[in-house]
Amino acid sequence: MTTAKLNLNGNDYEFSVVTGSEGEVGIDIKSLRSASGAITLDPGYGNTGSCESAITFIDGEEGILRYRGYPIEELAEQSTFEEVMHLLIYGHLPNASELQSFEGKLQEQAHVHEDVKQLIDGFPANAHPMAVINALVAALPGFESDASDDEQDIIRLIARVKTLAAWAYRRSAGLPYVASAPGLSYSADFMHMMFGSQGAKPSVSPEVESAINKLLILHADHEQNCSTSTVRMVGSSGATLYAAIAAGIGALSGPLHGGANQAVIEMLDMIDKDGGDHDKYMAMAKDKSSGFRLMGFGHRVYKNFDPRARILKRSADSVLEALGVNDPMLNIAKQLEQVALSDSHFVDRRLYPNVDFYSGIIYRALNIPTEMFTVMFVLGRVPGWIAHWREMRLDPTTRIHRPRQIYTGSTKRSVERLSER
Ligand code: ACO
Repeated sequence: MTTAKLNLNGNDYEFSVVTGSEGEVGIDIKSLRSASGAITLDPGYGNTGSCESAITFIDGEEGILRYRGYPIEELAEQSTFEEVMHLLIYGHLPNASELQSFEGKLQEQAHVHEDVKQLIDGFPANAHPMAVINALVAALPGFESDASDDEQDIIRLIARVKTLAAWAYRRSAGLPYVASAPGLSYSADFMHMMFGSQGAKPSVSPEVESAINKLLILHADHEQNCSTSTVRMVGSSGATLYAAIAAGIGALSGPLHGGANQAVIEMLDMIDKDGGDHDKYMAMAKDKSSGFRLMGFGHRVYKNFDPRARILKRSADSVLEALGVNDPMLNIAKQLEQVALSDSHFVDRRLYPNVDFYSGIIYRALNIPTEMFTVMFVLGRVPGWIAHWREMRLDPTTRIHRPRQIYTGSTKRSVERLSER
């Protein structure tokens, strides 16, 4: 298959067909408008490829997710978040010296300008940490005293967002800030800044470090989702990395995207407080007029189990056991999942648990407050956003992103005088 034909108003047009390395087929319609005057209409972009990308492959029908060709299951089991960040951004798993250099640079750059603390202190203590992290990332270039380039910005942002995320929590908890400690992994350092004390020896357990490491890896990239497309869209204008990532954080905050992990726990809590009657909530989820959806279920791309949800379900069991936590939410979640997987509303629409269904239960076991869940998603997703931003920046064919529309408003008319309106 090398060409596709379109007949429009009696005229034939031919378009070349692009085939990806996993056999995905796309019709290249770049010449459509100039040749025919028509555009395509695809609200929600369900059938639109916005770019060619070599970073992440998803087969939603089969429930497959791979970063740079490596299955997510293998990466989650065998890699560190630092290795996965390197893989996503630079295209290959680091060798020993590359890893050492990458980790060293991240540790060196984890400090943020002292004056940033004043900015954080300026937020009310009850400000949502997503609003705080969003504003801090946008503000960060204002605190960089020296000139930087794209590659330096990448390291600075990854390193500093960890500190900012932890400090956003410390502010909301009314606790003093804890500085990054040398010699720790990305995951352990984050947990040290969240729950440690300034000057005290870091004491993050291997179980906690490994659970955070896995969660961050599973959230690290997911090809052209809403926030990543936002990052590419903003970056296409030539805006800074910080501006693009801040926009991505805003997109991620919505309950239909990254905000779902918080929404899942709030939903499970509501069901628990209401006596645990999941049948009542299943009935509401099936009734569109109720406005209620089963949070953590369904996905635009996966029409099968989200492979990340499978890993997290197993992980929830093992982390809770290792930490000696008994959380009734896990049982409610499992019961809901069991009912949904055999209910025709969910089966017919191929709605399965997504990554957010079990992640919140693990965050709770790690003492991470509900309002921080989406910030955890930010921490994991930053390298994915950066990988896409960098891929776009290095591609000489990148043009500013500028979709078109089909206008449905009034045709030309004249302004009526006030007395005639
Ligand atoms: N509960 C009940 N019904 C659902 C759900 C759900 N969670 N999700 C989809 N449906 C139903 C819809 O009502 C619709 O039914 P219809 O065909 O009778 O109209 C059908 O399934 C398709 O739903 P859409 O909203 O058209 O699917 P879309 O691909 O646009 O949305 C989304 C995907 C946003 C993830 C949706 O499934 C949803 O709202 N899920 C809950 C929120 C959530 O968990 N989001 C996290 C996504 S993962 C992530 O961002 C990391």
